Amino acid sequence: MRKIQSCMNGGCVSYNFTVDWTTANTQFWLDLFKKAGKDINDPITMLELGVFEGRTSCWISDTLLNHPDSKLICVDNICDDRQSIPQILGNIRLSKNRTKVTLHVQDINTFFLRHSNLTFDAIYVDANHTYEAVMEDGANAYKHLNPNGILIFDDYESESDNCVGPAVRDLEKIWDLKLLGTGYQRAYIKSEQL
Ligand SMILES: C[S@@+](CC[C@H](N)C(=O)[O-])C[C@H]1O[C@@H](n2cnc3c(N)ncnc32)[C@H](O)[C@@H]1O
Repeated sequence: MRKIQSCMNGGCVSYNFTVDWTTANTQFWLDLFKKAGKDINDPITMLELGVFEGRTSCWISDTLLNHPDSKLICVDNICDDRQSIPQILGNIRLSKNRTKVTLHVQDINTFFLRHSNLTFDAIYVDANHTYEAVMEDGANAYKHLNPNGILIFDDYESESDNCVGPAVRDLEKIWDLKLLGTGYQRAYIKSEQL
């Protein structure tokens, strides 16, 4: 396992990550927040569907959860045999806003069934990349997104996960969403009037 040292505000921590699906997207995310008129110091409630080792969760914790009322809920059923709960929790515990991050080890559908009342200001969809799963996760995410909320899909332009693009484009036809940014990831803002 590779130790990744992250230093900010004078302190350094050593995360345990083996992959990096985060760094290439961080500027895209910061630009999205700016375009959506959201300051990283404002309160925000976020949901991440698909966590793997928690690298993006830790970046969110380190960067976007500055306000005392901000929080992140992470959902993963740990279906990938390279993952382990202690590793994910260990990483989250090293992050800056660890007390504002909660990990739900369960299937995404179960999470939405058990938390039908929860809504979010930003949702990151990055779990199972089959057409059906992206349709289902995306539709649930849309339902649980607050007006003016940001919805981000990973792997929109992936060649290996080439079901994400078609699923997102099909969902786009039935939603009241404005495109906020596109590239390897694709992001929307939900209409305010809903
Ligand atoms: C691509 S990885 C997530 C990467 C993470 N977002 C990051 O940026 O580092 C996909 C994750 O989705 C999880 N996953 C896949 N299908 C799921 C489901 N139905 N419910 C919950 N988690 C799921 C897998 O266990 C895996 O950890």
